[in-house]
Amino acid sequence: MTFETEIHKRRTFAIISHPDAGKTTLTEKLLLFGGAIQLAGAVKAKGDRRRARSDWMKVEQERGISVASSVMTFDYLNKTFNLLDTPGHEDFSEDTYRTLTAVDSAVMVLDAAKGIENQTRKLFEVCRLRDVPITTFVNKLDREGRDPFEILDEIEQELALDVVPASWPIGMGRNFLGCYDLFNDRLILVAKGKNDQISEGIECNGLDDPKLDDLLPDDAVSKLREEVEMARGLCPEFDLESYLGGHLTPVYFGSAINTFGVRELLEGLAEMAPSPRPQATTTRDVDPSEKKVSGFVFKIQANMDPKHRDRIAFVRLCSGHFKRGMKLKHIRTGKMINVHNPTLFLAQDRELAEEAMAGDIIGLPNHGNLRIGDALTEGEDLRFTGIPSFAPEILQKARPEDPMKAKHLGKALQQIAEEGAARVFKPLIGSDWIVGVVGALQFEVLADRIRTEYNIPVHFESTQLYTARWVTCSDHLKLKKFLDENRGAIGDDHDGEPVFLARNAWHLDKAMEDYPDLEFHKTKEQI
Ligand code: G4P
Repeated sequence: MTFETEIHKRRTFAIISHPDAGKTTLTEKLLLFGGAIQLAGAVKAKGDRRRARSDWMKVEQERGISVASSVMTFDYLNKTFNLLDTPGHEDFSEDTYRTLTAVDSAVMVLDAAKGIENQTRKLFEVCRLRDVPITTFVNKLDREGRDPFEILDEIEQELALDVVPASWPIGMGRNFLGCYDLFNDRLILVAKGKNDQISEGIECNGLDDPKLDDLLPDDAVSKLREEVEMARGLCPEFDLESYLGGHLTPVYFGSAINTFGVRELLEGLAEMAPSPRPQATTTRDVDPSEKKVSGFVFKIQANMDPKHRDRIAFVRLCSGHFKRGMKLKHIRTGKMINVHNPTLFLAQDRELAEEAMAGDIIGLPNHGNLRIGDALTEGEDLRFTGIPSFAPEILQKARPEDPMKAKHLGKALQQIAEEGAARVFKPLIGSDWIVGVVGALQFEVLADRIRTEYNIPVHFESTQLYTARWVTCSDHLKLKKFLDENRGAIGDDHDGEPVFLARNAWHLDKAMEDYPDLEFHKTKEQI
């Protein structure tokens, strides 16, 4: 197989959802189809769900639990899928957001009863920044949920996306009979009483096919015809370009727990979802089919082994054909890195994973020299753009339990900030450190890391701070004047750049009004 064909086979994607919508269940079922979890045949007996879970755990353990769940690779329909995990619960953080910079498309899972929830919206916004195409899976149709029209309307209104139903549900809750596959004209019925059996679709000659009258109760079939006609009148036709541009989402209905609708979703991804897309840099766009290897770090995972300060930098390959043992240039430092011990995530057989292509993810163990956004190439000086940094939304004080460890804590926080796992500010006045994150639970993760990796028991305390803004001004004297006059509200970030720590919205507005020549940036990347 040629190198180009291999790249075109790649589907690198993530699932975005609000906790509890069914991401884990769907992931598990996708892996099942991909054969990453081996089950005898498609028919599964009672209790197999549990077994599937434990099989999956075994796969995870073999691969090293947290690494494996970060990237899951499987083959289906002659495509290679890389599913990147977006941790949603405990460690919801910038990593979650940034993972979305490493994918070419996303699956948005909605709970049919709840529609679009808070975290779905946030993650969607990040996808929108890069026009990532979205495929929607409306889950839990086996329970009473909202009317499908209402859900479609909500997606369209709230996310400003065109919606095109890819399938249409027949009934809901206890009366959920199945779906009509609108893209392929197939009737897919729930295999009642057969647990997870995955029923084959029944080819139909359009919705008027008399087969439907034989297979479905009268009222169900007339409702289906009526609703689909209405939906077709209300929704635009599916348009691939519009989907690829991130303006339109095909919507599948299903029930992940019953493995219902999952195959259709995968088929859709295989057919429509984009293969690796060109990546922008400050100088040019990098095409995935270029022969030379390039990639960028989008996530750092630390704490793999608490005894060592090893981290794994996850690199999204943007071009070329990577082979184990290759030397790559670390553009930020100009140093060559000998990549002899990468983690490669290739379908099923990890032993044979000696190579990776554009679109794939490789994990590089390092001691902290690799940071988020860093580029690695075979020599060309490339800097990838579009790796957003998120404004720290919640600010807390970090305090060592042992005051004698203040200096050590400072060092630990400095490293964590360099890694990109949190923002760290040192106020000019006082001895505290201020840490800024995007999700409150990140503080627990950080405290745990600092305790295990640096051996410094630490706690975080709430502050009266509202937000942090990086301050710049083309006129040095004006900037100095502002810094001098507001010393009590100024801190330095880990690179020594000045940051304004505002107590409330009024405090920030006032500063902006009083110092109109200054710029107040939400993220460092805007500087
Ligand atoms: P998450 O990763 O998005 O947080 O969701 P997860 O898959 O863990 O699912 C959240 C809950 O919803 C789980 O129930 C799961 O079984 C259930 N669920 C997922 N898909 C479906 C579906 O298609 N239909 C129905 N009815 N439920 C679904 P739980 O009780 O929290 O956990 P568990 O004890 O079942 O594992």
